[in-house]
Amino acid sequence: MTAPTAASAPMTVPAVTARKGGPRLAMLTAHDYALARLADAAGVDMVLVGDSLAMVGLGRPDTLDVGMDAMIHHTRAVACGVLRALVVGDMPFGSYQADDADAVRNAVRFLAEGRAGAVKVEGGARVLGRIEAILRADIPVMGHIGLTPQSVARMGGFKVQGRTARAAQALLDDARRLEDAGCFALVLEAVPAPVAQAVTAAVGIPTIGIGAGPHCDGQVLVSHDVLGLFDRFTPRFVKRYAELGQAATQAMAAFCEEVRSGAFPGPEHSFAMDPDEQRSAGLDAPPAPGPGGRG
Ligand code: KIV
Repeated sequence: MTAPTAASAPMTVPAVTARKGGPRLAMLTAHDYALARLADAAGVDMVLVGDSLAMVGLGRPDTLDVGMDAMIHHTRAVACGVLRALVVGDMPFGSYQADDADAVRNAVRFLAEGRAGAVKVEGGARVLGRIEAILRADIPVMGHIGLTPQSVARMGGFKVQGRTARAAQALLDDARRLEDAGCFALVLEAVPAPVAQAVTAAVGIPTIGIGAGPHCDGQVLVSHDVLGLFDRFTPRFVKRYAELGQAATQAMAAFCEEVRSGAFPGPEHSFAMDPDEQRSAGLDAPPAPGPGGRG
């Protein structure tokens, strides 16, 4: 298959669901306009405005304290940068836990204010009622089971899920229930590859893996990990395709050096003045700057 480009037909929710069984779906996170444009131009099928924003964009230790206003602010920016991909807004912790009305109100904000095409909700059977309420409001929902980072307190850390036969069965049950409820796709995070394979075979909606092995219908990663822009820690399931963080630090160090030496800005970065105007204004040509900025 030729890789889609930003000029290809826009991705929709039905188009995502129709990709069950292939061609595989590629999803990356973006939290701002610049990264959204890059991901879209690269041909991703979906851009996730993940609550990973809290960790990779806002420097928090986990994803628990990024609120609705911040998520909407960032989703709007991402939607402005995307031409083709489906934009999925991640319902943050606290935005759907209280009651159905709250969940629907916040999901509506993602579409109406954020201009997302769908929302993602973490959790299986425990949040099924909330997901059904959002779906009844005609808002497409992507499920997310396995390691659900918003459950870090209950799980006792970011740990692989579904490692026992019983836990694997619970994941299969959750996946089927989310499909029956009407989710259009399902993220499987940090689960053993055989479990993800079984879930993928058991449901008729695409599974999007992250740390879930090669048998899913698609894969998602956090762009900051893919690009080498986040180095606080790198989960085992991440593949770094570039080291842009190192390149950025080198470029910024070169800027600092040139500012201090006076090599930047050069004449090509400066604005000249009409010589007659300059003379009549009494502005003599300034002496060439030396080290420390003095002539
Ligand atoms: O917030 C996020 O970026 C996510 C992905 C890791 C799936 O939920």
